[in-house]
Amino acid sequence: MVIVEGVPAYLYLDEEYIAHHLGRRQRGYGRGGRQQIERDHAHIQTGVRHGYTLGSPIGMLIENRDWVNWQEAMAVEYVENPSQEGRNQRVTRIRPGHADLPGAMKYGFHDVRNSLERASARETAARVAAGAVAMKLLEEFGIKLHSHVLSIGRVKANPPDQGAIDWDAVEESPVHCADSDVADQMMAEVDAAREAGDTVGGVVEVIAEGVPIGLGSHVHWDRKIDAKISQALMSINAVKAVSIGEGWDLLDRWGSEFQDVIEPVTDPDRPWQRKTNRAGGTEGGMTSGTPLVARFVIKPIATLHNPLPSVDLDTGEPVQAHFERSDVCQAPPAGVIGEAMMALVLADAFMEKFGGDSIPETKRNFEGYQATVGPRLRYS
Ligand SMILES: Cc1cc2nc3c(=O)[nH]c(=O)nc-3n(C[C@H](O)[C@H](O)[C@H](O)COP(=O)(O)O)c2cc1C
Repeated sequence: MVIVEGVPAYLYLDEEYIAHHLGRRQRGYGRGGRQQIERDHAHIQTGVRHGYTLGSPIGMLIENRDWVNWQEAMAVEYVENPSQEGRNQRVTRIRPGHADLPGAMKYGFHDVRNSLERASARETAARVAAGAVAMKLLEEFGIKLHSHVLSIGRVKANPPDQGAIDWDAVEESPVHCADSDVADQMMAEVDAAREAGDTVGGVVEVIAEGVPIGLGSHVHWDRKIDAKISQALMSINAVKAVSIGEGWDLLDRWGSEFQDVIEPVTDPDRPWQRKTNRAGGTEGGMTSGTPLVARFVIKPIATLHNPLPSVDLDTGEPVQAHFERSDVCQAPPAGVIGEAMMALVLADAFMEKFGGDSIPETKRNFEGYQATVGPRLRYS
């Protein structure tokens, strides 16, 4: 069950739009068997009437068809002597790099399954459903989100400039990559890892276009938009580093080589243009009016077909780590999850600034503000 709060009334919302994004999360070269079980669908239960939001919390239910196979192993009811057969078997062969060991210690679990299931990225289906609602809201105001894969393992893309990326082609790419010349090499990297019983990670970029200037805060450390985006992206399972704009490439640059110089205003409808967007659309914790760009690194996942050496939770003796159905590479779907997380942060910041209980009211507030954005002496 996913509950989204804070969406104004009169936003048109249908299940197909959300299903489209859920479907995007399930695609991608390198995903494992889980995705073959079902096509995710979020059934709207509350908060929408005759196609439009009501301003009340939007409740959505995403079914899990695999659940029938786990009814006994994951039963809610007390079980006197759980059998130790098949799926009921306790998991004690800890996987390094997963929630297995800290989860077992923190909660005093004797069965790693208790933390293993909740730490699964299956939960990101809920994030994508919630993020789709946020995206629908942002689209009303001309804000659009995209993502693409910059590298998988050792294979790096050389994508065109952001404005020249063909997003339809990215959607068609099995590796969600904007550089069609390297897609085959990326798939070969995934195949090589699979054959070796191993996994590969990657770097993903998320972009939001059409973002107005001034979302976020330079005053409150916890409302800085770059900080919020970083936290949201870092919270995605297996993400280990986040960069806003070209943040990672900064080290050897001088100041003059990094800042995005502001151009003289010639068009009142498009003030404050920049030739570059190195800072990724934020300055002082606020959006600067250029596209928001964030990159993140997703590590090679921890469950290996060729398991790592580990230890047993009961005995501390050496064993091979547990293996369960697993992906080889999750960079392509991670982009879709990244879009959802960035959309949630942006929608939050947008509603904080413009407020409103209905879309028409939010639009009035937004348009009133936009009319003031320009050189002070000329337009205010
Ligand atoms: C889309 C996606 C799919 C994932 N699939 C798997 C998987 O099949 N097997 C696995 O061990 N980890 C998978 N992970 C990563 C784990 O959920 C993650 O490594 C784990 O929760 C531990 O968290 P940490 O890596 O951030 O420390 C996936 C992550 C994402 C984003």
